[in-house]
Amino acid sequence: MLSIVDYLRLTLQCTAMADSTDETVPASKPEVFYNYRERNKCSPEENARLERQHFWNVINAFKYYRIHVHERVNRAERQFRCLPDHHQQLLTNFLPNLNKIGYCVDRNQEVLQAIVHNCLHMFENMEYGQDGDPRKVRPSTTFDMDKLKSTIKQFVRDWSEAGKAERDSCYKPIIEEIQRLFPPDQCDVSQVRVLVPGAGLGRLAWEIAHLGYSCQGNEWSFFMLFSSNFVLNRCDKENALTLYPWIHQFSNNKMSSDQTRPVSFPDVNPQSLPADSDFSMVAGDFQEVYSDPEMWDCVATCFFIDTAHNVLDYIETIWNILKPGGVWINLGPLLYHYENMANEFSIELSYEEIKAVILKYGFVLELERESVPSTYTENDRSMLKYLYDCIFFIIRKPAEQLINGDQTPKDGQTEDSLQKRSST
Ligand SMILES: C[S@@+](CC[C@H](N)C(=O)[O-])C[C@H]1O[C@@H](n2cnc3c(N)ncnc32)[C@H](O)[C@@H]1O
Repeated sequence: MLSIVDYLRLTLQCTAMADSTDETVPASKPEVFYNYRERNKCSPEENARLERQHFWNVINAFKYYRIHVHERVNRAERQFRCLPDHHQQLLTNFLPNLNKIGYCVDRNQEVLQAIVHNCLHMFENMEYGQDGDPRKVRPSTTFDMDKLKSTIKQFVRDWSEAGKAERDSCYKPIIEEIQRLFPPDQCDVSQVRVLVPGAGLGRLAWEIAHLGYSCQGNEWSFFMLFSSNFVLNRCDKENALTLYPWIHQFSNNKMSSDQTRPVSFPDVNPQSLPADSDFSMVAGDFQEVYSDPEMWDCVATCFFIDTAHNVLDYIETIWNILKPGGVWINLGPLLYHYENMANEFSIELSYEEIKAVILKYGFVLELERESVPSTYTENDRSMLKYLYDCIFFIIRKPAEQLINGDQTPKDGQTEDSLQKRSST
């Protein structure tokens, strides 16, 4: 599997990326600035080649969607036509429903086309050239098609009225704690720097910026980046667009119409940020991008830490980039992303183990809830639902660091620091 994590590293700093040729966006409109960073593992030429290839593979996946899902619909029709005539006659709604699914696929494709239409130049410091004949579409992998379908569902979670309950269960607790820890009536929130790694389609980061905090989202998936760029920079009318996120689900539907029900987005105008807001998105691998120490007052992770190959790397990065006295707010499960991927490195730890490591680094646990129920891109009409019993914690990097200078805890020092804290 080709992963963009493998070849991303910082290149340039962020500048405005207004696209004056895009008629849908008046030039005066505030833009969320996307900044591109790449990792340098192989030669720069090889990096650039792999990255370009991955970029165009993802664009191709957006274009191939329609063909892929129509093939699935055609299969359903072929199998229906294999039924004995008297069975077919009993299922009068079957083919009309398939026609409706086909219609929804085409509407989804229109939105996907709009998403990729403007992403060629979305990174202010990176261009991807051409990919042969832009009209030619190649078959995409099942892996990429699954990613695209998940991205479509992510629009429900982040930018629809239907996703409100889900957002309330996991974004709201984080936002409330940010407001409690950095109260608007006691500090200049525009000076409070909040980082949201693994920002998905950007709603949590957007909400934090909407409250006036300085907020940066970080994300490495091009599927997510293209889509968040579209919502944040190209959409300015509430519920003006429609997706059919559930058409790929042929099982566990209570009613046929559940599969084809529409979801409108965005439920809020993403352009309605305060005029002076400081909101940006940075593309790239969290660990690679964020190496500058003591930059952030708050790191907010939601359904993110289990995306690590080694969650200790994330803990170490967060320790390094937090200012002394800064806080890490985390909510999510531990569904380790790489656990079942062949040839991928993956360390799976229990929360108990993670917590012990966090304390060994010198973080101080300020709040802990071990059972916060939450869903993830849930289809509320489905007969199959997953409920995550999430961990929610707030930990603080002490203002006065116990491990002077050296950020890596040594065994003896760490035990000392823990004893020191427990005896106070
Ligand atoms: C489960 S999703 C959660 C998204 C969002 N926080 C939410 O709650 O909806 C995890 C996100 O982290 C992103 N991600 C995974 N590994 C990453 C990394 N190393 N650096 C930046 N983003 C990463 C994924 O692309 C994905 O969008």
